[in-house]
Amino acid sequence: MDIFQVFNDRRSIRKYKETQVEAVKIEQILNAARLAPSWKNMQCWRFLVINDQEKKTALLQAFPEENPGSRAIATAPVIIVVCADPSESGVENGIEYFIADTAIAFEHLCLAAHALGLGSCWMGWFDEAAIRTALAIPENIRVVGITPLGYPDQEPKARPRKSLSDITFYNRWEKL
Ligand SMILES: Cc1cc2nc3c(=O)[nH]c(=O)nc-3n(C[C@H](O)[C@H](O)[C@H](O)COP(=O)(O)O)c2cc1C
Repeated sequence: MDIFQVFNDRRSIRKYKETQVEAVKIEQILNAARLAPSWKNMQCWRFLVINDQEKKTALLQAFPEENPGSRAIATAPVIIVVCADPSESGVENGIEYFIADTAIAFEHLCLAAHALGLGSCWMGWFDEAAIRTALAIPENIRVVGITPLGYPDQEPKARPRKSLSDITFYNRWEKL
């Protein structure tokens, strides 16, 4: 699939079919994440792949009911918990780059999933301490985001985006 078509057609998917995801596709998706750029190429990201129903149910407790994606945590065939070890990244100008490193890898993962006909949804609204307890994730590791992964059972419309002219400036910080 053409990369611009992938950008254009990817959606946050919150409803999944029960169909299992092939192990080879999961590996392809994780490999796409692994190829992301990172601070000094330190690759601080870690991926915890969950397909055990008991663990998924335990994870669900960490999501507020109002989170529109929380049902997908219980129902998607696979959940990927995207983590980072901040000691394998840097801080500059007050920016903690483990978040940027891991976010890039996470988006590679989401785009690769879409290119393979799978859905994902970056989820950030959860209780990190509860996730850590549910999955026995060490204290030094941060949970940057979580995504369900599976075959989409919905075709959401594109959500609106700001226009290029609202977010882009040429040569100076000023609208023409
Ligand atoms: C950092 C981040 C956190 C997000 N957290 C959640 C979440 O907790 N629950 C959810 O349902 N969607 C979450 N989303 C998905 C956004 O709502 C979604 O990307 C946005 O509405 C645009 O829709 P689209 O992804 O289909 O283009 C999150 C997205 C990002 C990038």
